[in-house]
Amino acid sequence: YPFLARPGFGPGEQDWDHVEVRKGAHLFYWLYYTTANVSSFEERPLVIWLQGGPGVASTGSGCFEQLGPFDIEGQPRASNWVQHMNVLFIDSPVGTGFSYVESFGEYALNNKQIALDLVSLMTDFLRSHPEFQRVPLHIFSESYGGKMAPEFALELYRAQQRGEVQCQLKSVVVGNPFTSPVDTILSYAPFLLQQGIVDNDGFKNISQAALELSRLIYTGEMLKTVRQNVELQQLIGETTVGIFSSYIQRRTHVDYVYEYGGDQKVCDFMLNNVTKSLNLTHMPEWVVRNLSVYFHLGSDLFKPAVHIVTRLLDETPIRVGVYSGIQDLVCPTPGTVNWINSMMWGRKKLYEDATRRPFHVNGFLEGYEKQGGNFSMFWVLRAGHMVQQDNPAAMSHILREFIDYG
Ligand SMILES: *[C@@H]1O[C@H](CO)[C@@H](O)[C@H](O)[C@H]1NC(C)=O
Ligand SMILES: *[C@@H]1O[C@H](CO)[C@@H](O)[C@H](O)[C@H]1NC(C)=O
Ligand SMILES: *[C@@H]1O[C@H](CO)[C@@H](O)[C@H](O)[C@H]1NC(C)=O
Ligand SMILES: *[C@@H]1O[C@H](CO)[C@@H](O)[C@H](O)[C@H]1NC(C)=O
Ligand SMILES: *[C@@H]1O[C@H](CO)[C@@H](O)[C@H](O)[C@H]1NC(C)=O
Ligand SMILES: *[C@@H]1O[C@H](CO)[C@@H](O)[C@H](O)[C@H]1NC(C)=O
Repeated sequence: YPFLARPGFGPGEQDWDHVEVRKGAHLFYWLYYTTANVSSFEERPLVIWLQGGPGVASTGSGCFEQLGPFDIEGQPRASNWVQHMNVLFIDSPVGTGFSYVESFGEYALNNKQIALDLVSLMTDFLRSHPEFQRVPLHIFSESYGGKMAPEFALELYRAQQRGEVQCQLKSVVVGNPFTSPVDTILSYAPFLLQQGIVDNDGFKNISQAALELSRLIYTGEMLKTVRQNVELQQLIGETTVGIFSSYIQRRTHVDYVYEYGGDQKVCDFMLNNVTKSLNLTHMPEWVVRNLSVYFHLGSDLFKPAVHIVTRLLDETPIRVGVYSGIQDLVCPTPGTVNWINSMMWGRKKLYEDATRRPFHVNGFLEGYEKQGGNFSMFWVLRAGHMVQQDNPAAMSHILREFIDYG
C-alpha cells in the first residue's frame, strides 16, 4: 500500500487532510483506497464525490448515508463504491463539513470560485498522491452539484491543458441536477399536477409562485429571490400537505422531519466518532449544513450552468452524464429533460438521433438511457433525488457505463 495510507474510520486504508486553497480558505478531503482484490489500487479509477446543498458535506451524507463502506451504525453497505474503486470525498464549498474559513470574507461568492477552489485542492492532492496522476479520474455529484461539478471539471481540464496539474479526467456525471434552476422551478407545478398530487387549484397557486420566482431570478433581486424561494417551498409543502419532496412515493409519518445532508444522529456521529478517529478534535467543528455557505452565494444560487455543460461538450473530450430519479420533486425529471432538450452544442444531433433504450439489471427493468455526442442521460425507476440510496442497482449500471466498474 502507498506510503500515505493510514487507518482512519473503520477498516480499509485511507488518507485525509485540509488544504488551504486560498488564503484563509480550507477544503477537506477524505480518500478511501479501494478494497477491491487488486494487486495495486492504481488498477482502479479514482472517483470524486461532491455533495449538493450547497453547503452539505460529502463526508457526512455522501460517505455514511449513500456510498461509503459503512453506515453510522457501523454496518457494512452492500452497494458501497469503495469495493470497486478509489473514492475521494471532498467537503466543498469552503465552510462545509470539515472544511472551514478563517473569516467570513473567505466564503465562495460564486460557482467559478467554488470550481477554482476545487482545482486548487486537486493540484495539491495530486502532488502529494502522484500515483493518482496516471489513474482515470471521474467526478460524480448530485443536486446543486449539477452546477458545481461541471464548472469544476471544466476548470480542472483547463488547468491540465496549461500544464498546472497532471490528471486523467474522463467524465463528469450529475444526478437530479440543479443545473438550470429556472427549468427546475417551472417544472414543479405541472409535475405535481400530472402525478395527481395537486388539483388545478393547487397547480395555479404553485405556478404563480414559481413564475414570480423566475421573474425575480431574471431581474436579479437577490434578497427577494431567496425569500420567494422559501415561500414557494412552503406553499408546495402546504398544498401537498407535506409530500416527501426527495421521493414523492415514500410513505412517511406526519412527525417525520427530514433534512438533506443528515439528521441529528449523523451530526452526533460525525462530531464524536469520526472527528476522534481522524484526529480532528482540535480543528473547527464539522457542521451538517452551514447556511453561511448558502447565503454567501447570493444571487449566484439561481444562475444556470448549462453553458458550462455546453463548453465541456464542445471544447473537451470529457464525457458528460446526467441521471434522474423520476420520483424526485426537488429537481423533477421533466425540468431536467427541458434544459437538455434546449441545450445547443456542436454534436447535439448525435444525441437527438440516438435511440432511447431500456436498461436492465439482473433481468429487471431499472430505467432508460440515451447517449450521443459524448452526452448521456439516464431516467431511473424507483428512485427520487438520491438515486444511489434509492436504486443502487441502477446506479451500478450507470457507474459501469462511465467507469467500467460498479
Ligand atoms: C484475489 O485475487 C487473486 C488473484 O486473482 C485470487 O487468487 C484470490 O483468490 C482473490 N482473493 C479473494 C478474496 O477473492
Ligand atoms: C460511536 O461512538 C459511540 C460512543 O463512543 C459508540 O458507542 C458507538 O459504537 C460508535 N459507533 C460506531 C459505528 O463506531
Ligand atoms: C459555518 O462555518 C464557519 C467556519 O467555516 C463557522 O464559523 C460558522 O459558525 C458555521 N456556521 C454554522 C451555522 O454552523
Ligand atoms: C390557492 O390559493 C388560494 C388563495 O390563497 C387559497 O384560498 C386556496 O385554498 C389555495 N388552493 C390550494 C389547493 O391550496
Ligand atoms: C493528532 O493531531 C495533533 C495536532 O495536529 C498532533 O499533535 C498529534 O500527533 C496527532 N495524533 C495522532 C495520533 O496522529
Ligand atoms: C467523445 O470523447 C472522446 C474522448 O473522450 C473522443 O475521442 C470522441 O471523439 C468523442 N466522441 C464523440 C461522438 O463526441
